[in-house]
Amino acid sequence: KMLAAGGFRLDPMESAPSIEDIRRLAKKRLPTMAFDIIDGASNHEITLDANTRDLAEVRFRPRWLTDISSIDISTEVDGMALQRPYVLGPLGLQRMIGGEGELGAVRAAGKANIPFTISTASNWAMEELADEATGPLWYQLYMYKSPKIVSNLIARAKAIGAEALVVTVDVPLNGKRYRDHRNGMSIPPKITPQNALQAIRYLDWTRAIMKPPTIGFRNLAGEVQGNNAVSHQEFVKRYLTNLTLTWADIEDVRSQWDGPVYIKGILTPEDAQRARKVGAQGIYVSNHGGRQLDSSPSTISVLPSIVDAVGEDMTVVFDSGVRTGDDIAKALAVGADLVSIGRAWGYGNAAGGEKGVLRVLDILDEELELAVGQLGAISIDALDRGFVDYPEAWH
Ligand code: FNR
Repeated sequence: KMLAAGGFRLDPMESAPSIEDIRRLAKKRLPTMAFDIIDGASNHEITLDANTRDLAEVRFRPRWLTDISSIDISTEVDGMALQRPYVLGPLGLQRMIGGEGELGAVRAAGKANIPFTISTASNWAMEELADEATGPLWYQLYMYKSPKIVSNLIARAKAIGAEALVVTVDVPLNGKRYRDHRNGMSIPPKITPQNALQAIRYLDWTRAIMKPPTIGFRNLAGEVQGNNAVSHQEFVKRYLTNLTLTWADIEDVRSQWDGPVYIKGILTPEDAQRARKVGAQGIYVSNHGGRQLDSSPSTISVLPSIVDAVGEDMTVVFDSGVRTGDDIAKALAVGADLVSIGRAWGYGNAAGGEKGVLRVLDILDEELELAVGQLGAISIDALDRGFVDYPEAWH
């Protein structure tokens, strides 16, 4: 009682000062197998580490004694007015790490009026998520082998009113994630002798994952039912795994979508140019958070050359490794138009569902405004390379 009367804030979520604190709360709440699904990356996690290490190599060049009485972090991208220069990126598998999965996150996004990107690999169908949404929705597409399945997904994304289509191209094969292998991770999760003790210790989590419907890829549920003559493995092989995908297929998708199309997973100026040639409005400079090809470069180190190759003509979205508002300011200063948030909101969802994601957004907004103000930049548009220093080798 005295503690409460003294004005101490006892809710660790509300008082968490940083995304790293939120990450620790998520770690406490989840069994290892679940935490590693979000925290882990491929192979030796060289790229995962490089993303954050290289963001730390970017240093600010503040301009003091500038009038910063009105800081504006709003922006506009391809005709879409945004309250802040970042969006919630596509994270699948949310029911494996957060009680209600993507539902809590989509509600939080609505309250904060930030675009929420529905992943093709979400554990709720896009229509189920749209029912909970009160803010803008974007849709992330995986280009499966069956053109019919891809067209259906695009048509459904249109029907729920998604404003932008994000086509992820860096998963021709699934990355090998050592942590998931060691933990015996499976979808839906199985209680094995190896993880039985954790299942008992983390009862809230266990209850949440046992709740129907069974955890799976609900965007594909209808397609699977239509093919119930084949086993799941056979279905994946026959209709999903696409080893012959090329840039020509992207043109096909472009013609089926009226709004902006963004290609997610670009790491070279050459591929950025190709994306432009096939008619994409923008690209995500992304290494999938280090979860795909390990030893890919950090995204901040390739951002300058990619912006120089396409900057004026294309929307450049920065993705992978963003954990602070400073990181957002750095990417924008180097030349990105927008930033996509990955694990940062996933940790929030894992730590506390809707409330956790809202806390993450508060932290990022506060830190971004602080960075922009201290830089003397005043607005997002004013941020340019004059506000940062970074290694010569990245130029
Ligand atoms: C992802 N990411 C991802 N990307 C995508 O295009 N479709 C997807 O379904 C998923 N699913 C997914 C699940 C989980 C648990 C994670 C952590 C990531 C990649 C994501 O959109 C983004 O590129 C990275 O998360 C960016 O790296 P950081 O910022 O999370 O380090």
